[in-house]
Amino acid sequence: MRQSSLVVVANRLPVDDSVAPDGACEWRRSPGGLVSALHPLLQQTPATWVGWAGGTGPAPTLADVDGVRMHTVPLAHDDVRDHYEGFANSTLWPLYHDAVEQPVYHRRWWEAYQRVNRRFAEAAAEAAEPGAVVWVQDYHLQLVPELLRTLRPDLRIGFFMHVPFPPPELFMQLPRRAELLLGMLGADLVGFQRPQAAHNFAQLATKVLGLAATDRRIAVGERVVRIGAFPVSIDMREMEALAGRPDVVRRAAQIRRDLGDPQHVILSVDRMDYTKGIEQRLKAYSELLAAGHVKVRDTVMVQVAVPSRERVEQYQVLRDRVEREVGRINGEFGRVGEPAIHYLTQPFDRAELAALYRAADIMAVTPLRDGMNLVAKEYVAARVDGGGALVLSEFAGAAAEFTQAFLVNPHDLEGLKSTLLQALQASEPDRAARMRAMRDHLRVHDIRAWARSYLTALDQSGVLVNRLTT
Ligand code: ADP
Ligand code: F6P
Repeated sequence: MRQSSLVVVANRLPVDDSVAPDGACEWRRSPGGLVSALHPLLQQTPATWVGWAGGTGPAPTLADVDGVRMHTVPLAHDDVRDHYEGFANSTLWPLYHDAVEQPVYHRRWWEAYQRVNRRFAEAAAEAAEPGAVVWVQDYHLQLVPELLRTLRPDLRIGFFMHVPFPPPELFMQLPRRAELLLGMLGADLVGFQRPQAAHNFAQLATKVLGLAATDRRIAVGERVVRIGAFPVSIDMREMEALAGRPDVVRRAAQIRRDLGDPQHVILSVDRMDYTKGIEQRLKAYSELLAAGHVKVRDTVMVQVAVPSRERVEQYQVLRDRVEREVGRINGEFGRVGEPAIHYLTQPFDRAELAALYRAADIMAVTPLRDGMNLVAKEYVAARVDGGGALVLSEFAGAAAEFTQAFLVNPHDLEGLKSTLLQALQASEPDRAARMRAMRDHLRVHDIRAWARSYLTALDQSGVLVNRLTT
């Protein structure tokens, strides 16, 4: 077994198996914010990524991806059902997103959560060379830092939570709340997207575990665990280069022609997830059409909603409801050859996404709750022409950075409608000034800045930081 000085541990590997047109198995980049953030970063250093390849049964052997070693963790059918679909995505995910859907608890899911976390910790222990940095990601693996510390006390262990970390009122509902906190406290540094999340974590460490805690440090026995906010970002340079490519610019123009050369294109790109506010957005658009504030001929909507967690009931229900609503809106407001909503569920490559971003006058990113939302950042990065307007939910982590976006409370339907109209009707100089300010911010706060700030705090020797972020 080859070992690395940097090991990333995440539930999902950066590639997913899918079936190619000729029936062969094909690997492609998995959609999701975590992969988008880490994938470009790791290409610069000999690193290992420990994760699940998306199937069940024996782990496939994967070739390196852009120089990063893939260390696959095998999961059986029961593990996927009870850990990934169960405790991770039916208990923790809804609870951490303001309980916008009801979290469900089952004791057998907790057993699986422990079992799978143990397997990931063992895989990370195998892949890490002596004294390595191991960076554990997200809510699926909250027990890994402590398990790994027991197996390999020589390692520097970081944990980063990509999703919101809830206030005590919500977290206290969890039957195994103490174990989850202790698991994360096995790390040397626990990072969150927002300062409020670090504050919630510190409060819980005191309330549940009786530990002395501030929003920066928690005393755990002899150790001090540092905590803090490190808002994740994207590779701005990569997206700018892509969006400036002549073929992408041509493709963006083609997309607009295919849409019937409307005056305005409103775009949304989400995983099909109830946290993303897709239904509320469709309702707002439909009411704007019904009231005659926008007309299908002038204003079309493109909703990309790639299916996600398809075996979880709440996701199946959501997909059915979204598809019914898209059908209703198109039936009511569309014409032959002129649908009101162009609805796409396919995964796209990065160039096609960049072309879509460049084709959109308005990007509507209106989640009910989101740790960060990298789609919002990708859109801003793609607008190398300085055009476009971002309508952004106040409840996305990105709103704290993009204060010049058209900010909106997605729970307020009237507010959503008026903000969409405001963005549609804004003057060119107003839109351009907002976009310029957001692009300036993103240029400084890109993925390298994120990695640099997190890894500087974690690995104070500085060796890894320099290798990864220059
Ligand atoms: P989340 O992590 O909840 O999925 P983010 O907005 O932070 O949400 O990240 C989503 C990521 O997935 C982005 O990088 C986006 O480009 C990518 N993505 C979303 N939809 C698609 C799609 N249809 N095809 C390919 N990538 C997608
Ligand atoms: O950031 C949230 C997150 O859950 C990531 O951990 C994950 O990779 C992404 O969304 C996509 O979700 P999934 O891995 O369940 O398809």
